[in-house]
Amino acid sequence: MAKKGKTWIKGQLNEKYYKMSKRDGFRARAAYKLIQIDAKYNIFKVKGKYPKKVLDLGAAPGAWIEVILRKYLEIPEAKRYRNFKIIGIDLTTIRPFENAPFIETHRIDIFSEKCEKEIIQPEKLFDIILSDLAPKTSGDFRDIANQEAMVEKVFEFTKYLKKHGHIVVKMFQSEFTNEIMKKWKPHFRILKRMKPPASRESSRELYIVGLNFI
Ligand SMILES: C[S@@+](CC[C@H](N)C(=O)[O-])C[C@H]1O[C@@H](n2cnc3c(N)ncnc32)[C@H](O)[C@@H]1O
Repeated sequence: MAKKGKTWIKGQLNEKYYKMSKRDGFRARAAYKLIQIDAKYNIFKVKGKYPKKVLDLGAAPGAWIEVILRKYLEIPEAKRYRNFKIIGIDLTTIRPFENAPFIETHRIDIFSEKCEKEIIQPEKLFDIILSDLAPKTSGDFRDIANQEAMVEKVFEFTKYLKKHGHIVVKMFQSEFTNEIMKKWKPHFRILKRMKPPASRESSRELYIVGLNFI
């Protein structure tokens, strides 16, 4: 990956969402993408109820988990939610969260057999599956293939998504986005694509939001 120059770093430090993340105590500016997706699609309600089990793929450093955690703390009945669980998976280590025993994090590749067989499958079903997975870029044709393989893998994991559950999946705008929309449409009551304002305009990144899994 190309080295980021001083100007890039300076621009980053002055950037609005970066500053907001420092002010609000989030681990990364990515937090606002999920906040904005939720503000539009109310993803933290599944059939009128708060979700009990959430899978977060590509979860490091953990900003989306922090968003879920804050949401959870807003719920008055949260203390009675005994089986609430968030599972965060990433190739890199996710720093632990204090006083949150219901958060489980794993340093593992989502493509590994162990990830599916030993971490995901035993949980049976999730209310929400989130993916902010982004492959390391090499700047050549492999980037596209890697990204597409990731999106396909996340779709495979919908076999662990509850009926009426939701997904949010990052991908990069291309012809493949239209293919995915067509392929996933029959599986969700609502399927949308969204570019949250916190996602940089210069990036082709967008999110597919699937609501009410059929
Ligand atoms: C944009 S970051 C995610 C930010 C995260 N949503 C947050 O709020 O902090 C993308 C992550 O995908 C992870 N990733 C990329 N390929 C992966 C793979 N094969 N298995 C697991 N994680 C992967 C990267 O390590 C990186 O941490």
